[in-house]
Amino acid sequence: MSTPIEAYDVSHEAEMMEPLDFNRRSRLKHVDQVFKAEILNIIRLTEMEKLFQIRIVDPAAQARFSFLPGQFVMVEVPGYGEIPISISSSPSKAGHLELCIRRVGVVTGALHRAERGAKIGIRGPFGTHFPMEKMKGRDVLLVAGGLGLAPLRAPILEVIDNRADYRRVNILYGTRTPAQLLFDYQYEEWKRIDDIHLEIIVDEPDAQWTGPVGRITDLIGGLTIDPRNTFAIVCGPPVMFKFVCTRLSELGVPMRRMFVSLERRMHCGMGKCCRCNVGSTFTCIEGPVFDYWSVMNLKEAI
Ligand SMILES: Cc1cc2nc3c(=O)[nH]c(=O)nc-3n(C[C@H](O)[C@H](O)[C@H](O)COP(=O)(O)OP(=O)(O)OC[C@H]3O[C@@H](n4cnc5c(N)ncnc54)[C@H](O)[C@@H]3O)c2cc1C
Ligand code: FES
Repeated sequence: MSTPIEAYDVSHEAEMMEPLDFNRRSRLKHVDQVFKAEILNIIRLTEMEKLFQIRIVDPAAQARFSFLPGQFVMVEVPGYGEIPISISSSPSKAGHLELCIRRVGVVTGALHRAERGAKIGIRGPFGTHFPMEKMKGRDVLLVAGGLGLAPLRAPILEVIDNRADYRRVNILYGTRTPAQLLFDYQYEEWKRIDDIHLEIIVDEPDAQWTGPVGRITDLIGGLTIDPRNTFAIVCGPPVMFKFVCTRLSELGVPMRRMFVSLERRMHCGMGKCCRCNVGSTFTCIEGPVFDYWSVMNLKEAI
């Protein structure tokens, strides 16, 4: 009889988390076990990105597969390889996850050619997470640039699912062109949620664009921020979160209350292959989520 697969249970992590101590190494268990998963649906988001809706096949394993916003999984495409991808969905549906994947090379290319019903392997979830528990009762500012909306969508959906737990919620999102905007079919729905403020900006407008034009930092000036009560999550290219976090810091938001997702090349996801290091820090197990203070003190992180 085969041994049942045990997922890495992260539910205790949030409970044990000390206020500023979420960056400790995550507890990796059963990292070499692969969940057999099925692609249920594929949604084309842009020319380069697709959203994959995935289900863990074994019902018993489904119940045990839990994750927290900010974590990632290793996705194995048989015959092509394995890649790290952030989970883009809400943790509320056991055994189901959504991955927003940009086509850049061998494995992502194979996934973009896959069809509904294709079988893949999922390892994880891995890494640290955004400390949503600590944000309850506070203002939350969610900022993304480009593909950064993929990891940011998990905390967005978490806040939407539990709107009463958070105070004022602002979402800022920017891309280079309107054609690159991800999840544009959900913006109206997000805006309709009680007291969620969403603003979108592009660098290079097209003829139809009627919204603001410029950089994401241009949107911060228009916000009312209560710095002592604000937590921020910033996802995007490191150069972007450097500018955004510096601006928020000038407004008085403590660096320990800004969280970023630091993505490096990864191979094993479990601290073995030394592909993801920044200095002596393994971003696969001590990250990808760091507070900005820690990132500032990591040489060559940004
Ligand atoms: C923690 C984490 C979370 C991630 N989340 C997402 C996500 O939600 N959505 C998504 O689309 N991508 C995400 N990525 C990036 C994704 O892992 C890479 O795009 C993927 O590994 C490329 O695999 P490939 O075989 O298609 O490309 P390859 O054939 O290996 O390479 C093709 C090109 O992509 C570049 N490349 C390869 N790996 C990376 C990488 N890790 N970062 C940047 N460039 C790379 C190579 O230099 C090359 O130019 C994440 C990466 C990490 C570390
Ligand atoms: S990905 Fe192998 S050590 Fe981090």
